[in-house]
Amino acid sequence: MAVDLLLGLQWGDEGKGKIVDVLTSNYDIIARFQGGPNAGHTLVFNGKKHVLHTIPSGIFHDGTINLVGNGVVIDPVIFKGELDKLEAQDVDYRKSLVISRKAHIILPTHRLLDAASEASKGKAKIGSTLKGIGPTYMDKTGRNGIRVGDLELSDWKERYRALADKHESMIAFYDVDIQYNLEELETEFFKAIEVLKSLKFIDSEEYIYQAQKTGKTILAEGAQGSLLDIDFGTYPFVTSSNTTAAGACTGLGVAPNQIGEVFGIFKAYTTRVGSGPFPTELFDEDGATMSRVGNEFGATTGRPRRCGWLDLVALKYACQVNGVTQLMMMKGDVLSGFKTLKVCTAYKYKGDIIKHFPYNIEPENVEPIYTEVDGWQEDLTEMSETSQLPKALNEYIEFLEKELEIPITIVSVGPDRKQTIFRS
Ligand code: IMP
Repeated sequence: MAVDLLLGLQWGDEGKGKIVDVLTSNYDIIARFQGGPNAGHTLVFNGKKHVLHTIPSGIFHDGTINLVGNGVVIDPVIFKGELDKLEAQDVDYRKSLVISRKAHIILPTHRLLDAASEASKGKAKIGSTLKGIGPTYMDKTGRNGIRVGDLELSDWKERYRALADKHESMIAFYDVDIQYNLEELETEFFKAIEVLKSLKFIDSEEYIYQAQKTGKTILAEGAQGSLLDIDFGTYPFVTSSNTTAAGACTGLGVAPNQIGEVFGIFKAYTTRVGSGPFPTELFDEDGATMSRVGNEFGATTGRPRRCGWLDLVALKYACQVNGVTQLMMMKGDVLSGFKTLKVCTAYKYKGDIIKHFPYNIEPENVEPIYTEVDGWQEDLTEMSETSQLPKALNEYIEFLEKELEIPITIVSVGPDRKQTIFRS
């Protein structure tokens, strides 16, 4: 069986967790392939909200295997916190959660290094979630990292000490005021490591290969969004992993010709958290309405998200880089009440009109060109069928499908599992 992918097409926070949860009943295995606790995947069902950071969003379904792939970076302390919450809800994760030996571990000093690096950048800061993501991937590519499989080796603590000592000298090099008590952080860390070690470690590429051979269905769950990709995102205001489709191949050990459907998730408008260019950002009442109605605050950091109109130039680029085969539109309900909506369909770039995503999208280089469409007034949150959707929303959807040349197969009208409309 081919491996299907589910990815965010904007700057993250598109609602991937909800859709993975909705689709999980179609899959035997849900696999995370990149990122780490910088992610916050929100699921709502039975009147309760759940936020996952590292654990795949299939964890609440009995009988589904949840796999943390080699491309993921794991903070044992945050991971333990997630497990504690699952345990409190009687979720039996021991049978259903497996972890790649090749996944890298976020050390307490990685988090401190992240903070020191950001503090040293001043106004040019990335707006990182400060979870240690960048420094951990730096140690991975610098071939210094500690992997989950190392925890099974006798000398891993010596390697830990050497790396943590090196990090401390790097923190001092930054010459910024970072207060910390490493001893305390390490006590918590080593306690969490013991919990991690009680879980099932696997050679995930072999596991997935065998699962495919025996006809198991697999969904790879992306984190962050395509515009935060280390190569194709708005560098340097990006995360440190490949969030795009290719990242699923390297982050799980799946060959490119084994990829099936590519589900692309996007919001009916655009949001971004952290620094970096955002051509369609709004600083007016419309942006404030999206923020308020959409409850646009980061699931991991609680920071307010910046809001703006849908940017089809950026969305088309993301569809292209990922090879998206089906689109899923989230938060259409948030736009109810706007008389007209704007959609960016081209950029004015250094005097020319362009339709592709250029190297520089800073305000001095790019001015969005908008097409105006009718808004809708109806409350969508109780709707459950395409036939109930307002005419203007159907026209909005058809307009996007025509521009992007990809079908929109799901329209989400609220955070709950049940608030999901399937389009044929
Ligand atoms: P980092 O990955 O924590 O280093 O953050 C780098 C950039 O990516 C910052 O602008 C973050 O706000 C953004 N970012 C990281 N993870 C997420 C996410 O899950 N959703 C939205 N933005 C994210």
